[in-house]
Amino acid sequence: MTSTASRRGSAIVAADGVTKTFTTPDGRALPVLDDISLTLHEGEIVALLGKSGSGKSTLLRCLAGLISPSAGTVSYRGELLNGANPGVAMVFQSFALLPWLTVQQNVELSLQARGVEEAPRAERALRAIDLIGLDGFEGAYPKELSGGMRQRVGFARGIVVEPDALFMDEPFSALDVLTAENLRGELVGLWEGHEAPVKSILIVTHNIEEAVLLADRILVLSSNPGRIMAELTVDLPRPRNRQDARFEAIVDTVYGHLTGREEPSASAETGPAGRETRAATPINTPLPDVSVGGLAGLLEVLVGLGGQEGLAELADELNFEIDDLLPLVDAGVLLGLARTRAAQLEITEDGREFSAADILTSKQLFAHHAAAHAPLIRAIVQTLATTPNHTVREALFLDLLRRGFSAEQARNQLETAIDWGRYGELFDYDHDDAEFTLEPGAERYL
Ligand SMILES: Nc1ncnc2c1ncn2[C@@H]1O[C@H](COP(=O)(O)OP(=O)(O)O)[C@@H](O)[C@H]1O
Ligand SMILES: [Mg+2]
Repeated sequence: MTSTASRRGSAIVAADGVTKTFTTPDGRALPVLDDISLTLHEGEIVALLGKSGSGKSTLLRCLAGLISPSAGTVSYRGELLNGANPGVAMVFQSFALLPWLTVQQNVELSLQARGVEEAPRAERALRAIDLIGLDGFEGAYPKELSGGMRQRVGFARGIVVEPDALFMDEPFSALDVLTAENLRGELVGLWEGHEAPVKSILIVTHNIEEAVLLADRILVLSSNPGRIMAELTVDLPRPRNRQDARFEAIVDTVYGHLTGREEPSASAETGPAGRETRAATPINTPLPDVSVGGLAGLLEVLVGLGGQEGLAELADELNFEIDDLLPLVDAGVLLGLARTRAAQLEITEDGREFSAADILTSKQLFAHHAAAHAPLIRAIVQTLATTPNHTVREALFLDLLRRGFSAEQARNQLETAIDWGRYGELFDYDHDDAEFTLEPGAERYL
């Protein structure tokens, strides 16, 4: 088995201080990437891991030269990029096939775009189709293919140009679990067998295990804005075994990084000692997108397991993908009902109290913790409490949120807040008038 180090060669694509700020439709600056520097070398698979909305696709598009950074530079083999990166081919989550073209025509399209003559075009396309296990489907149309087969076409279209770097943006996310696992395995096989005519792979994913299965190096991206908050080397031989203790240890480490211990979203008291703490605001501390019922369920399970459990085991226990657990863990930690230590999730005293309480008491406890630790909830209650008729239009909060979030994310934040606020009987929301109203007595939680 080849070791990682021996295959890592010269730099192919490099980002230096890449920053990207979008302008929202109403003219506000939305910082998405902040000062990102990275290098993709020959012979390595790098995974870019981050939560949804952390800017992974944006970074990939910057590196591919499809969009330009607001600051910083991207280079390909030492040359500053100006326009599309000539060494990169892309594979998208959505497959992005043209429905009126056959498999072969779809694959040939990439070559056509690069000015390859017709005869070598067909030959190269057929070779790529063969390599990726689509033999016999050359003449099929995308609609005749399963999702897995469609993504094979996506891969064939990427490798047919024999790129220095194959960029993949969540290529397995739209597939069912088994199909995804199968395709991942084949990809690893091609890579290890040096059969795929690509010199490096950069894969974007929000799936921790996928990153550990595939990558030589994992770059963990924080959210709001995206920064590289950790880099891990995965020095395990391939194919990798999820049950391997070393595999699990790496998953746990990555999990630790993503569960907020290193992130501003962790509430101050759970952060590592000596860490620089900054005031939590609705922008830098988003509400995890979970329901109170889901959080209560997680805490119940945790109590049932004796109050603590490894995060990976917990995901297994609940039959969740490990990543699906993240927002729930984030919510528990944010509210002070749980804490993470190494790769363990532990219930806190407050969490136990919340979990054991009757419904009325649990609502009050939740209201107390949400108003104390969830900045958006606190901001809403505070604003309502200081408004003479205790009623405020949602537009106010949406406007505030859109200083740090896209319109869609701002809306999601508000919907989560409504769910939490209602559960804790802190405030109510009237859909018809698009207004928030303070629940009587909710000021006491401030
Ligand atoms: N063209 C754009 N204009 C404005 N905002 C954008 C644009 N593209 C992405 N965004 C915003 O940038 C953030 C990061 O998006 P994205 O890179 O797609 O994240 P990820 O791939 O990690 O889920 C999101 O808030 C998204 O709404
Ligand atoms: Mg994306």
